[in-house]
Amino acid sequence: MERVSLSPDLSFSRLIYGMWRVADDTDTSPAHVETKIQACLAQGITTFDQADIYGGYVAEAVLGGALKANPSLRPQMEIVTKCDIVAPAGRYADKRVKYYDTSRAHIEYSVECSLRDMSIDHIDMLLIHRPDPLMDHEETGAVLDDLVQSGKVRAVGVSNFRPYDWELLQAGMKTSLATNQLEISLAEVAPFTNGDIAFHQRQNQPLMAWSPLGGGDLVTGTGDVADRLDSIASEQGVDRAAVAVAFLLRHPASILPVLGTNNLGRIANISDALKVKLDRETWFSLYEAALGREVA
Ligand SMILES: NC(=O)c1ccc[n+]([C@@H]2O[C@H](COP(=O)([O-])OP(=O)(O)OC[C@H]3O[C@@H](n4cnc5c(N)ncnc54)[C@H](OP(=O)(O)O)[C@@H]3O)[C@@H](O)[C@H]2O)c1
Repeated sequence: MERVSLSPDLSFSRLIYGMWRVADDTDTSPAHVETKIQACLAQGITTFDQADIYGGYVAEAVLGGALKANPSLRPQMEIVTKCDIVAPAGRYADKRVKYYDTSRAHIEYSVECSLRDMSIDHIDMLLIHRPDPLMDHEETGAVLDDLVQSGKVRAVGVSNFRPYDWELLQAGMKTSLATNQLEISLAEVAPFTNGDIAFHQRQNQPLMAWSPLGGGDLVTGTGDVADRLDSIASEQGVDRAAVAVAFLLRHPASILPVLGTNNLGRIANISDALKVKLDRETWFSLYEAALGREVA
């Protein structure tokens, strides 16, 4: 499995396993979660994506159960988690509204909860989950710098940030932001032309792509995109999901797809995407199907 460098001492696997849905599985036992992690590790998928809010603030503890039961797992993994979304659930059940919080106090509290819930002593990558309209970039930047300095967090990045949000936060901090996690897929092609990918490509910053299968819609749907995926999949002896992921891998920016299946058979096949070869014409046939028109 290809490795992608995010900072001088941190690299991620090209394919990443996301744990948004881990607490929705019918089996959240440590043994079952370990089986999923082992299926990833067997393919060289060592990077795992979490967020404090996943599962209504319980998904990190579901992962933590497996890491506590088998301490040999953690050193083989890079763990990404996120903070800043506060929703009336779990530890924030008393909140009246959903909001974002990038204050020092909230970020520090959230990191402590993540470390405790996952039973880990450091986070490999902490992301600000969504741009906060009330962000004081000097305050947020300083707390991110301090967390890196303290060793609780190895690297920091953002998610769902536009280039101007990124530049604002970066201006308030000494540490270089390492990545942006965006929705990019055949169901969300705008980042290919709206400047989001170009901004990071120019600065050689790898991007993480969330919901690369459109949250499942691309594999269960019908229509032109589905037909194109099926035809390429049958030519190359893989399934639709592998082709949809390969569509992202083909781009010259380093895009790291974050896959979220809970199905053990599908987890075991995530790396099939690496076998798919998409020439320029084939890539454009998918892109045009997603656009619903020929390019101009
Ligand atoms: N930063 C953000 O704002 C943000 C937002 C959303 C997600 N994320 C991250 O991105 C990760 C991936 O998101 P995602 O789960 O939406 O990704 P995804 O891989 O696009 O979709 C996963 C969904 O597709 C279904 N699926 C996959 N293959 C299928 C098949 N062959 N047939 C039927 N259903 C199939 C899965 O169901 P099964 O479990 O049954 O396979 C699952 O419900 C998350 O875990 C999270 O880490 C980040």
